[in-house]
Amino acid sequence: MKRVLITGASSGIGLQLAIDYARDHQVIACGRDAAKLQHALDNVACHHLCFDIGNRASVLAACADLPPLDLVILNAGTCEYIDDVKHFDGELFERVVRANLVGTGYCLEALMPKIAPGGQLALMSSTATYLPFSRAQAYGASKAGIDYLANSLAIDCKPLNIRVSNIKPCFVDTPLTQKNNFPMPGRITAAQASNYIRRGLAKGKREIAFTPIFVLGLKLLQLLPFNVWASLQKQQEENA
Ligand SMILES: NC(=O)c1ccc[n+]([C@@H]2O[C@H](COP(=O)([O-])OP(=O)(O)OC[C@H]3O[C@@H](n4cnc5c(N)ncnc54)[C@H](OP(=O)(O)O)[C@@H]3O)[C@@H](O)[C@H]2O)c1
Repeated sequence: MKRVLITGASSGIGLQLAIDYARDHQVIACGRDAAKLQHALDNVACHHLCFDIGNRASVLAACADLPPLDLVILNAGTCEYIDDVKHFDGELFERVVRANLVGTGYCLEALMPKIAPGGQLALMSSTATYLPFSRAQAYGASKAGIDYLANSLAIDCKPLNIRVSNIKPCFVDTPLTQKNNFPMPGRITAAQASNYIRRGLAKGKREIAFTPIFVLGLKLLQLLPFNVWASLQKQQEENA
């Protein structure tokens, strides 16, 4: 059986991926809260690994004795919005970038040596990086960083026979989006997201962006002049 490691497996998309892969893979499900992970994966046959991705020492210690891995999905992440740019919250910015981007770097340090030749690495970005969204300075910047990281890794991992995929989901119904108080067009379930991701990874796709119709919509909106897009964003915020 192939061995897959998934971070952020205590909730949302990561939890669904752990449940789905556990049917025919050996799964190492990672979270930072042992009790939450245990509760979420109560009836799922998998190994549990606990670490905070924002803490380098914790990541390195937890991953030190792992066996070779066929697939690593660095999914853990968080989202917080900057409500008042005039009083820019630098601590919030650091929290989000640490969890989403710096933590990914710590996981790469710990896990790259474990990925077997012929194996796969997947990073979790977002369709949010197709366009700048109001209040998303921290989240969008962290995920834009993931885009670059994934693309650059793909170049250097190719000669190592490790395929790198960048995952860019639309809105998915998880605890992360259940906090949002704005319309989320085209929101899908975590089960649907897991299907898109597992299908894309099975095909070795470099970019796994979904849903196709949502991505097409964003790509068309990219064609708008910036000022038109910016006023649309502000109008939407006023109507919310
Ligand atoms: N939902 C969406 O619409 C959407 C869209 C695009 C991209 N994404 C990305 O998809 C990924 C999963 O999101 P989700 O919607 O499934 O969110 P979620 O339900 O909130 O799950 C996030 C997971 O990441 C873990 N995590 C967060 N910070 C961590 C840390 N410092 N150390 C270790 N684990 C940590 C959480 O652990 P705890 O349970 O302990 O908090 C949880 O298991 C994120 O990277 C997110 O940015 C989501």
